[in-house]
Amino acid sequence: MDTRPKLNIDQLLVELNTLAQISEAKPPVVTRVVFSDADLRARTYVKNLCINSGLDVHEDAIGNTFARWKGSDPELAPVGTGSHIDAIPNAGMYDGCVGVLGGLEAIRVLKQLGFQPHRSIELVIFTAEEPTRFGIGCLGSRMMANVLPQAQALALRDKEGRSLEELRGQAGFIGSLDSVALPAGRFHKFIELHIEQGPLLEEEEIDLGLVTHIAAPASLRVVIEGEGGHAGGKLMPGRRDALAAAAEIILAIEAAAKSTGAIDTVATVGVCEVFPGAVNSIPSRVRLETDIRDTDAGRRDRVIDALQAACAGTRARRGVMINTELVNADPPATCDPTILDAMEKAASQAGRTCKKMVSRAYHDTLFMARIAPVAMLFIPCRGGVSHRPDEYASPEWIASGVHVLARTLATLAL
Ligand code: GLV
Ligand code: MN
Ligand code: MN
Repeated sequence: MDTRPKLNIDQLLVELNTLAQISEAKPPVVTRVVFSDADLRARTYVKNLCINSGLDVHEDAIGNTFARWKGSDPELAPVGTGSHIDAIPNAGMYDGCVGVLGGLEAIRVLKQLGFQPHRSIELVIFTAEEPTRFGIGCLGSRMMANVLPQAQALALRDKEGRSLEELRGQAGFIGSLDSVALPAGRFHKFIELHIEQGPLLEEEEIDLGLVTHIAAPASLRVVIEGEGGHAGGKLMPGRRDALAAAAEIILAIEAAAKSTGAIDTVATVGVCEVFPGAVNSIPSRVRLETDIRDTDAGRRDRVIDALQAACAGTRARRGVMINTELVNADPPATCDPTILDAMEKAASQAGRTCKKMVSRAYHDTLFMARIAPVAMLFIPCRGGVSHRPDEYASPEWIASGVHVLARTLATLAL
């Protein structure tokens, strides 16, 4: 009989479900915006799990959380793993959380096996991977990698006008934002376990994706100022309707993304805020938030240029004012071949199938790549669905991801 400790998948599922209940929306909908009450309760829940698993927990000035299993040589740079627990409005329960609670379970099973790592293994829970509150993704890892200048961080506001400074202080995270940046070499290697957020693994019946590259994301804010007025009284000639102008721009960005002819180019306008937002009032101001991504940063930038050109055309034709602000335009990341090899070996030892793939979603690993060799391990998710309440990963998929993560962490920490 095999008496070796096994993954406790039942406990992991209970933990995932418990975390999912900590939501600003009614379950099964998960909404957990950074520094909301739900985010703070979720942090406490996960931190307690880490403490109860014998890990040393500390937080930085922005709330990035580090839970360390001390290696036999604690002076050596640790092997990191982790993800995020914040969730966009109307989300599901696996995005990010699988990498955090799955990472914790990987550590627990190695401990139970009596494995003694030479290097420490450190679980990281990143603050605000999602851009919901401050309009910029991967806030915690971005600052860890020293990519976000302090002045830009100090200027961040949510849509109620509350600053990052105010909100992090209220959440109990104090100290200089400068202290969040970590030097290259602080981590020996870093791996993030995550659901694929695309359909390929499930369609091809492959257990695991080994991520070789993470696409380059960019975000552009477009504010259009026209002229409001009475929807009945003001006749059509001479109108300067900000929403009609926005419609042109939205279609232009879709056309620009399609025109590259590359399957990897994607562009989305996910926010369209109309002022004053009354059915009998001509829109006077519109704010668009656009998201443009590609595996090729140059091609992505050409879509941004096309968007700027479309704005100039609409401005001239319609007599509206258009202001564009580049929120971020990040380079793509390349994953480390030694980690990919270790993951591939671990998958084969565990009897799992795997394939190399690109991540079209961004992740904290995009920024960890600036300060450490990185890779990502994807598990399938049903129908490729993510950022929706019906997001789902089966217990078997989760178990195979955690199993291979545990083996890889053990190899890298030896
Ligand atoms: C991350 O959540 C992304 O939008 O890719
Ligand atoms: Mn997400
Ligand atoms: Mn995620």
